[in-house]
Amino acid sequence: MPSFSLDVISDDSDFAHLDYAASAPCVRAAAEAVQDLLPRYGSVHRGTGVRSQASTLAYELARDVVAEFVGARPDDTVIFTRNTTDALNLLARALPEGTTTVQFDGEHHANLLPWPNPLRLPTPSTPDEAVHALKRALDGLAGPVLFTVTGASNVTGEVWPVRELADVAHAYGARVVVDAAQLAPHRPVDLTELGADWIAFSGHKLYAPFGAGVLAGRSDWLDAAGPYLAGGGASATVGDRPGDLTWATGPARHEGGTPNLLGAVALAAVCEALTATDRTALHEHEQHLLARLRDGLAGVPGAVEVSVFGPEHPRVGIVSLALPGHDPAAIAQRLGREHNVGVRAGQFCAHPLVRRLTGGDVTGACGDTPGLLRISFGLGSTTADVDRVLVGLRETLGT
Ligand code: ALA
Repeated sequence: MPSFSLDVISDDSDFAHLDYAASAPCVRAAAEAVQDLLPRYGSVHRGTGVRSQASTLAYELARDVVAEFVGARPDDTVIFTRNTTDALNLLARALPEGTTTVQFDGEHHANLLPWPNPLRLPTPSTPDEAVHALKRALDGLAGPVLFTVTGASNVTGEVWPVRELADVAHAYGARVVVDAAQLAPHRPVDLTELGADWIAFSGHKLYAPFGAGVLAGRSDWLDAAGPYLAGGGASATVGDRPGDLTWATGPARHEGGTPNLLGAVALAAVCEALTATDRTALHEHEQHLLARLRDGLAGVPGAVEVSVFGPEHPRVGIVSLALPGHDPAAIAQRLGREHNVGVRAGQFCAHPLVRRLTGGDVTGACGDTPGLLRISFGLGSTTADVDRVLVGLRETLGT
């Protein structure tokens, strides 16, 4: 049986991995779940042999575990996708005809670009402003409306007021999808508590880098839409003539082709481990690291922390820095080469937000490399990691 260990797997204890927001390391629970299943690996939903039966069972159990992780309601569907981008594109393709989609322009591209008929609102400066802007936008909109919002920003780490926004959206008859790619690794994500109709997240940010993601939520729009991928598994019956067919309902409708069994099982193993873990202790450790990092950054000349809602707003373990007069990519490269620290520099697939946070001036000293430098962490991160990046920043920015 796989264990439920949340220890991260690493062969280099001297490396400070501080780029979790892009791809988090694999935890033992995910790797062991894959290892455990490999000797019994077979086709999912497609065979009568013992391996196929074991694999089908493992896949459907994984779905049940993820359903519990997100607090799925009885009429919700859990669909395994490739990642958050894939999940949100799936939902975008399943919207009823004429749906208006509403989002703030500070979303990262996965939650900005897939949406048809978008009404984009300027990124607000406070949670209250967000709520008022959403009310104004929804007032008078006719037809189906979907409000799409991030749970936590991949640029600033700030936690968005999802519940308040969702309550507004529902009061106007709109539906809500939460992009939880950055929230799920750090906080419990319950559909009802968030007030979400759907939630999307990725395995590779949730310590299960085996190529699976999730879209979970209301089944009615999903069952009414055409299949995301037409093909075997998505079809219930296929006649002799083109178009003479019926599509499956439920998750199968949007999971055409052989599914990513190992990805789903790995992702579910982490969900199960997180569900069984004291999230308060994890949260406290992360907040301790965050405070240590931000205190230290205050003493690094030339590093300016960016935020949407201000420095006091709650955030997960993500901090981005403007480095006026420096090229963030060059600094990130030096951190890697000279200090064995992994961070990310650039615009983090959130170009409008990074432009706003930098006042439009996203050009570094070298003239052609725009953006910020981001430090992000999570399970397994230590005070030594934080101290190492602080030393590295002081040295690289000082020379
Ligand atoms: N959205 C991912 C990141 O922020 C890719 O790095």
